[in-house]
Amino acid sequence: MGKGNFKIFNVVGARPNMMKMAPIMAEMRSHSELNPVLVHTGQHYDFAMSQVFLEQLKLGEPDYNLQVGSGTHHAQTAEVMRRFGELVQADRPDLIVVAGDVNSTMACALVGAKELIPVAHVESGLRSFDRTMPEEINRVVTDSVSDILFTTESSAAENLLHEGIDPNKIHFVGNAMIDSLIFALDTARKSTLRERLGVQQGGYIVLTLHRPANVDDPVRLPAALEAIAKISEDLPVIFPIHPRTAARATELGIAGMHAWDGTQTVAANGVWTMPPASYIDFLGLVDSAAMVVTDSGGIQEETTYLGVPCLTFRDNTERPVTVTEGTNRLIGTDPENLLREARLTLSQSLQRAKCYTPPNLWDGHASERIVAIIRNYLTTAGLSASVATAAR
Ligand code: UD1
Repeated sequence: MGKGNFKIFNVVGARPNMMKMAPIMAEMRSHSELNPVLVHTGQHYDFAMSQVFLEQLKLGEPDYNLQVGSGTHHAQTAEVMRRFGELVQADRPDLIVVAGDVNSTMACALVGAKELIPVAHVESGLRSFDRTMPEEINRVVTDSVSDILFTTESSAAENLLHEGIDPNKIHFVGNAMIDSLIFALDTARKSTLRERLGVQQGGYIVLTLHRPANVDDPVRLPAALEAIAKISEDLPVIFPIHPRTAARATELGIAGMHAWDGTQTVAANGVWTMPPASYIDFLGLVDSAAMVVTDSGGIQEETTYLGVPCLTFRDNTERPVTVTEGTNRLIGTDPENLLREARLTLSQSLQRAKCYTPPNLWDGHASERIVAIIRNYLTTAGLSASVATAAR
């Protein structure tokens, strides 16, 4: 079979998609019958939110950039569908691969389903059971229209089966984002960010907050940051700040945080904001942190792999394995509890477990398993679809 017989659209939209797609595309490139194409919806577009990730993860320039940009959830979703729909009508792929749970994930999966193009979903089956989260809607819809569902932990298959998904579609392959982490860890440990900040190994806390439920709430955000400010009396808190959070903090007139401008060092305890960090810098920063406080999904998994204590400032998690087998603690959104749990964690000085075993199949080989299944699908079960494409 000649090179590139099977055209595969790999979709990225927002920052966390890129860590999952990079190792999968790299693996696809090593198989001559596959023609992997990178489609960026443009949901994230700032250099610090997109370009630096494409570069560091060696994804390269997207073959297509739909430049959708920001908007309300419905407008953004609709615009991705409109532009991606036009693209697949002009240049029809044999398979669409989407990852995670962002608006672009759901929008492109829906287009695939409507255009009768098979869809593979990486990181499927995770459920917070909280339908107020936009990501939960995206996960449920994406899974319901996908043809191949790749899961990262055992809870996912249980959730999918409970929703009536055909078990033959579900494949437990492990965690492609951890493939990226393992690939980048040596480089990340050489990052100079810690030095530039002037913080010591194990001598600081990393904070990230970006969920609408936390940062769009005019009561919750200041209250959380007040609790964090108290924690920062013990250790400096480094806060790479998401554009959404930065905008809300400005709107609410939240004061008392120091802005790290990249030149001075973190001379004192306190909360230090900085622009969104690159993948390599962030990984290096988290790897040496005393503790992480976050409302992110992916960071719960990264800290679990690294054995770094993580407090998740949310009422639920769609990634229960990080709590049952990892270093994650779900602490809810009460600021008093945040303070209590943070002090407890620091006083216990939870050390990185010496013989720590990561969750099953978080081993750096998820992408190989994913691509093996895709190749099998395209050359056997998916053959008729591919032949139909060729005839079109
Ligand atoms: C999105 C995902 C979320 C993921 C997060 C990672 C959805 C529903 N949410 O949330 O699951 O955890 O990405 O960061 O898809 N903005 C910029 N520059 C950018 C991108 C965004 O300034 O490059 C600002 C815009 O003001 C925008 C806001 O951030 O309105 C939010 O961006 P958006 O893509 O809507 O969602 P995120 O909060 O980033």
